Amino acid sequence: MSLPLVFALPGNDAFAADLATALEGGLGSAEVRRFPDGETYVRLETDVRDREVVLVCTLHEPDEKVVPLVMLAEAARDLGARRVGLVAPYLSYMRQDKRFHSGEGITSLYFGRFLSRVVDWLVTVDPHLHRHATLAESGYTIPTRVVHAAPAVADWIREHVERPVLVGPDSESEQWVSSVAELASAPHIVLEKVRRGDKDVEVSVPEVDRYRDHTPVLVDDIISTARTMVETLRHLARAGMPPTVCVGIHAVFASDGLQALEGAGPAQIVTCDTIEHSTNEIGLAPALAAAVSEVLAEEGGAPERNANESQ
Ligand code: R5P
Repeated sequence: MSLPLVFALPGNDAFAADLATALEGGLGSAEVRRFPDGETYVRLETDVRDREVVLVCTLHEPDEKVVPLVMLAEAARDLGARRVGLVAPYLSYMRQDKRFHSGEGITSLYFGRFLSRVVDWLVTVDPHLHRHATLAESGYTIPTRVVHAAPAVADWIREHVERPVLVGPDSESEQWVSSVAELASAPHIVLEKVRRGDKDVEVSVPEVDRYRDHTPVLVDDIISTARTMVETLRHLARAGMPPTVCVGIHAVFASDGLQALEGAGPAQIVTCDTIEHSTNEIGLAPALAAAVSEVLAEEGGAPERNANESQ
C-alpha cells in the first residue's frame, strides 16, 4: 500500500504536519480559498491518483468549514484518489442528539449522515457521545475510529501535577474523568450540574474535605462558554482548595469563554491540540496516526471500533 497523503484544510496546518510525520506519510499541498463572491475555490497541487488521501479538518465552528471540506474531498476523488478519509480531531454537532423541544431537528444525526456522504472514513477524538453509545448510532455509516485523549491527559497530569484529585463537573464527564483518574493512579470525584441556559450553569458543592491536601484537576471534554468550569472552579475555591488545574480535551472557547475562565480565579488552563489554541499543551497526533493506519490497513473498511482498545 502506498503511503497516505495528508492535506490540511485552512487552519489545520500544524496538526496535519504532525500527523504526516507520525504516519510517515507525505504532506500534500492544496490551495483552498474563496472567490471574491464568497464561493469556495480548491486546487490539489499534489497528484492524488491511486493514493489514500487524508484530509485534516477540525470541525469547531463547522458551518463555514464544511463547504471547503466537501469541495476538497470531491476534487480528490475526481482526480483519482483511492479513498478519501477525514481526520477531524474535534467533531461538532454531537450535543443536539435528541429532540429536546417539539419541532427541533436532531442535528447530530443529520451531520453524521451528511459527513458519511462526503468521506470514506472518519477518525476523531472523544466525540461527545452521550445518549448514543457509538458514532454509528449517531448517523455515521462509514468506518470510524474514536481515539481517547485519556492516556495523553493522564501522562500530562502525572508529569505536571503533585497529588492530583480529578474532578468531573457532571455525570456526562464521568466517562472521561474516571478513565483519566485510573491511568493517572489518582482519586476522582464527579459533581452534579444543572444547565438552565447557554451561559447559566449551576454545579453542586463538591465534597472535597478529604482531598484538601490535593491539587484539584478539573477534567471535561469540551470547554465552550466555559461556564461549567467557571462554576466548578468557584466552588472549589470557596471550599478552600488549592488553585485548580483545568484540563479540557477540546478548546472550543465560544464567545467570551476564555476571559470568563481566566477571570474566575487562580487556575492553570491546559487543553489538547484537537483545536489550535494558546492553551494547547497535550499533543494527540501520534494517537490519531495509529488510528488512521488501522483504518487504512483495512481494505474495504470495518465496523466502528475503539482505537485504543484495539491496540
Ligand atoms: C457537557 O455537555 C459537556 O461535557 C461540557 O461540560 C460542556 O460542553 C461545557 O460547556 P460550557 O463550556 O459551555 O459550559
